[in-house]
Amino acid sequence: MNDQTPILVTGAAGCIGAWTVAHLVRAGRPVVAFDKSSDRRRLYLALSQDEADAVAWETGDITEKGVIDGLVTRHGIGGLVHLAALQIPFCQADPVAGAMVNVAGTVAVFEAVRRHGLKHFVYASSVAAQSRPGFDGPNTLYGVYKLADEGIGRIYWQDWEVPSIGIRPHTVFGPGRDQGFTSAPTKAMLAAAAGEPFTMPYNGVLRMQHVHEVAAAVVRCVDHAPQGAFVGDLEGEAASIDEIVDAVRDIIPDAQITVPDEAASFAIDQSDADLRAVVGDWPRVSLHDGTRMTIEAFRDLLARGLVAPQAE
Ligand SMILES: NC(=O)c1ccc[n+]([C@@H]2O[C@H](COP(=O)([O-])OP(=O)(O)OC[C@H]3O[C@@H](n4cnc5c(N)ncnc54)[C@H](O)[C@@H]3O)[C@@H](O)[C@H]2O)c1
Repeated sequence: MNDQTPILVTGAAGCIGAWTVAHLVRAGRPVVAFDKSSDRRRLYLALSQDEADAVAWETGDITEKGVIDGLVTRHGIGGLVHLAALQIPFCQADPVAGAMVNVAGTVAVFEAVRRHGLKHFVYASSVAAQSRPGFDGPNTLYGVYKLADEGIGRIYWQDWEVPSIGIRPHTVFGPGRDQGFTSAPTKAMLAAAAGEPFTMPYNGVLRMQHVHEVAAAVVRCVDHAPQGAFVGDLEGEAASIDEIVDAVRDIIPDAQITVPDEAASFAIDQSDADLRAVVGDWPRVSLHDGTRMTIEAFRDLLARGLVAPQAE
């Protein structure tokens, strides 16, 4: 797409949203941030204060009919990245709110894309939409909602030829990843950078996807959206919690991280080969490089008082 056409990012106050906005800003692209929250604190982790304050910011609720539609008209939006959602713990705590945001909110976004004939649209599904080992389908309400989103994408293509790409992240890590079930590795890195102990809430194997790689993939997808309703995995690097702790200890040898025996069950056979075949390549970030970048960033952010370690 024309790189001076504004891109609307929903969920811009969140982790992936902040880094997607940051990548667009650093590439000189016009961007409109949208979120229920007006809190730019995660954007301050990804951009300088001046850069973050200069971002056009719209506050509103994705579930309100016509909100996204109005923004697309008002800003002459040409591409849309939909990341606003409630993560697993929030869906568990309030399933109705989860369905409203993660399902009805996604329909509201698809409606705006349909009505305006947008050709560049990417939304976040999740690895949670896939079956876990031993389960016949998703094993959380959040996963069921995300699977519904993928079905919604399929029907919008079938009935109205609305093109979309759904990406399935696994475990996003880096500054700003401070909430959600798989935020524990990032919290451990922050605690280690602060010289504090941390207890991992679970063991098991995750696919570690650094915020820079995820944001680069999102931007690649919105720029190179194909015709059709496509859903693809993000891959990252598969690593056990012990390997993640080793990666932290390569940088901070005396990091005090305790790992329990009990393993959470994650689907980990994802591949991004199909997605790369459709939209082209973006740079990979290894677990070691991502861990190093995250700890270096945290050291700087801690010194500037922009982050504080959290307990599990
Ligand atoms: N972080 C991960 O590892 C991961 C993994 C798989 C999928 N995802 C998906 O990627 C997307 C982004 O994840 P994230 O980690 O940035 O999440 P996040 O929780 O950090 O951010 C979500 C944002 O959505 C906003 N939001 C919630 N309800 C809203 C509403 N009604 N209207 C407008 N905004 C609303 C929140 O205020 C928040 O800023 C989500 O769809 C998430 O489900 C993330």
